[in-house]
Amino acid sequence: MSKTLTRQIDGPAAAPHPPERAAAHIITFGCQMNEADSEKMAGILQSEGYRLAPVPEEADVILINTCSIRAKAEQKVFSLAGRLKRLKKRRPGLLLVMAGCLAQRWGEALLEKDAGLDVVIGTGRMAQLPSLLRAVRETGRPAVDVQEEWAGNHSASPLREGRLKAWINITFGCDNYCAYCVVPFVRGREWSRGPDGIVGEAKALAREGYREITLLGQNVNSYGAGLEPRTCFPDLLRALDADSGIARIRFTTSHPKDFSVGLIETIRDLPSVCEAVHLPLQAGGDEVLRLMNRRYTYDDYRRTYEKIRETVPGVAVTTDIIVGFPGETAREYDRTLRALEDLRFDGIFSFRYSPREGTKAWNMDDDVPEAEKARRLMEVQELQREITVEKNRELIGRRVEVLVEGVSRKDASRLTGRTRSNKIVHFAGPDALVGELHGVRISEAGFVSLRGDPVRPGSGRESGGGR
Ligand code: SAH
Ligand code: SF4
Ligand code: F3S
Repeated sequence: MSKTLTRQIDGPAAAPHPPERAAAHIITFGCQMNEADSEKMAGILQSEGYRLAPVPEEADVILINTCSIRAKAEQKVFSLAGRLKRLKKRRPGLLLVMAGCLAQRWGEALLEKDAGLDVVIGTGRMAQLPSLLRAVRETGRPAVDVQEEWAGNHSASPLREGRLKAWINITFGCDNYCAYCVVPFVRGREWSRGPDGIVGEAKALAREGYREITLLGQNVNSYGAGLEPRTCFPDLLRALDADSGIARIRFTTSHPKDFSVGLIETIRDLPSVCEAVHLPLQAGGDEVLRLMNRRYTYDDYRRTYEKIRETVPGVAVTTDIIVGFPGETAREYDRTLRALEDLRFDGIFSFRYSPREGTKAWNMDDDVPEAEKARRLMEVQELQREITVEKNRELIGRRVEVLVEGVSRKDASRLTGRTRSNKIVHFAGPDALVGELHGVRISEAGFVSLRGDPVRPGSGRESGGGR
């Protein structure tokens, strides 16, 4: 799935660079990290005098923010780049920028692909975007910057897509080196942003009317490593809860090996921290987990999981699953199915293993045939579908708190929002409730969303829940 940043902006008066009333169009692939980066690059372009173009056909600069996580993610980027190259023929002067993880991974080699690229910019180099564009306009030659060293100000003012919910980066990079994963290679070494900058950003967002923030990192639980004075993720949550003025705090992603009891109690105790945990399991068999370099066994995971369920009332836990990893025999795969039945997640994201050059698993024998990977994926998804529906039905009759995000796309008389546990809810109500926290009693539950009726406004935790 790709996403287009569409929020319109009014650019300041014309500057010599870019050309007068120049417009940029940004297309985003990949994870929340990339969505946050696209908002930062939109902010950088805006401060350079660009406005955002709603469609590529109106743009002077098209930026593709790319993902490399699986081969399919890269193929999507290349097919889009091919289409945009044709557009370039019709729009002389149009500049094509490739940013993000694929740009970081392939660097200069991308220019040899004859994809019509003018700029290739790495994940840590966003601050260099204006000077790279300027260099291309001045020299007529492509410009590449994929240095690993972080460039300039990492907290450039983003041009945010939403007005209620915002991303805040807290850690960058990843040091975990899961055997299948390119992220450590395309996002560099892990480092944490200082807490003052994070709390300051959250406070400013609250003043602008934002109600919810999501703290982003590949492994938010290791937040604080290397910072002076010493701090940790629960400390950061406490500071944000006490000082930011933000109603709802979410975070993603968590690594099971670093998810402490202290953190679980912090989630329980802080009113603004939402009861939603994304805790990637990846596989249910210990041999596959070991080969994946996940550094926990299924039992370790299960203990953490049970502790979360027991301690935090109403919590929703979601996970990621990979099927067909090298060495995933029928028996090992069966342990993944058993794990899903045993743990009963609220939802999962599941993927077929995709070998990535440069990772440890690249040198392992990709021994599960594609057709079998596809079969396993389907089976996992069908099993989970039933569990998700059952979990959602447990909410029928319960009162939940919903942050009203807008009018339902399917039915204009209905509002749409999310519970604290991050489930989508539709209910009847006036537009005036958009931006508010409102009580809803759940009356129906399906796979992707819930329906309910408004009850008296108020905040507080969702009643009941658990398994
Ligand atoms: N840092 C996060 C997100 C990583 S990418 C985390 O640790 O969870 C999101 C998910 O993509 C991973 O959890 C994993 O399930 C999946 N993934 C990563 N590399 C993959 C690969 N090579 N093939 C298939 N799925 C992969
Ligand atoms: Fe990839 Fe593992 Fe790091 Fe997540 S924790 S980004 S899966 S290496
Ligand atoms: Fe993709 Fe990069 Fe995110 S590889 S999943 S966009 S960190």
